[in-house]
Amino acid sequence: MQPHVVVLTGAGASADSGVRTFRDAGGTWEGHDVLQVATPEGWRRDRRLVWSFYQARRAQLREVEPNAAHVALVRLERELEAAGHGFTLVSQNVDDLHRRAGSTVIEMHGNLARLRCERCGATVEDRDHVDPEVFVPCDACGHDALRPDVVWFGELPFGLDEIERALRRCTHFAAIGTSGQVYPAAGLLEAARAGGARTWVNALEAPANLHPDDRFLPGRAGEVVPGWVDGLLADLAGR
Ligand code: APR
Repeated sequence: MQPHVVVLTGAGASADSGVRTFRDAGGTWEGHDVLQVATPEGWRRDRRLVWSFYQARRAQLREVEPNAAHVALVRLERELEAAGHGFTLVSQNVDDLHRRAGSTVIEMHGNLARLRCERCGATVEDRDHVDPEVFVPCDACGHDALRPDVVWFGELPFGLDEIERALRRCTHFAAIGTSGQVYPAAGLLEAARAGGARTWVNALEAPANLHPDDRFLPGRAGEVVPGWVDGLLADLAGR
């Protein structure tokens, strides 16, 4: 069977770039209840709170850079492509660090660097407007406030068909820096395993969905992922 590697990344993959992970010890998102700031209901209830919260996240994008894990995944993509093997990178992260590093990525929870109009559906790349108090109107239809183009709780993730096609071909799967709590992303590891793929999991501590058949690689993604990429490429090359 032709090798097809699928990698899923979560907040832990960006932690070494200084992006805070999604959940803190109290299970909140930087002091906010996630239902206040990451749901369509929260946005309808208090657009100012949700907007100022996301504007702070969008401003942070300017201060962070891809880390060694992002760079290693670019190398993996290029070398697999050169060898004629398949590769699909899926990320739950809404920072744009994979793209900035040079990866082709399915951003299943959207991207902070994009804004979307709820009225006409237009999307715009926007990294410049980060004032927490000023909404950005839609140029296309004049609607007063664009929303961040991210997937909130209760909304359908992007790219699910493409992800499902990749999983059907998947021979090697790695979950990097995700706590395995948020579905459907958390189900990809199990789906790959059930389909016969070899599976690896990197995180600081064992995530909720870890299975005895998964190879657990504890530690920081920036330190673990480059070595995992080396090992996998050597393995696939029969070295
Ligand atoms: N290297 C590797 N893993 C790390 C690191 C690191 N430097 N730092 C933290 N981790 C691991 C933690 O051990 C944990 O398993 O990353 C995981 C982070 O978990 P979460 O913060 O829950 O992040 P994630 O799984 O991506 O959250 C999923 O929840 O609401 C949503 O859309 C949001 O995409 C997000 C989703």
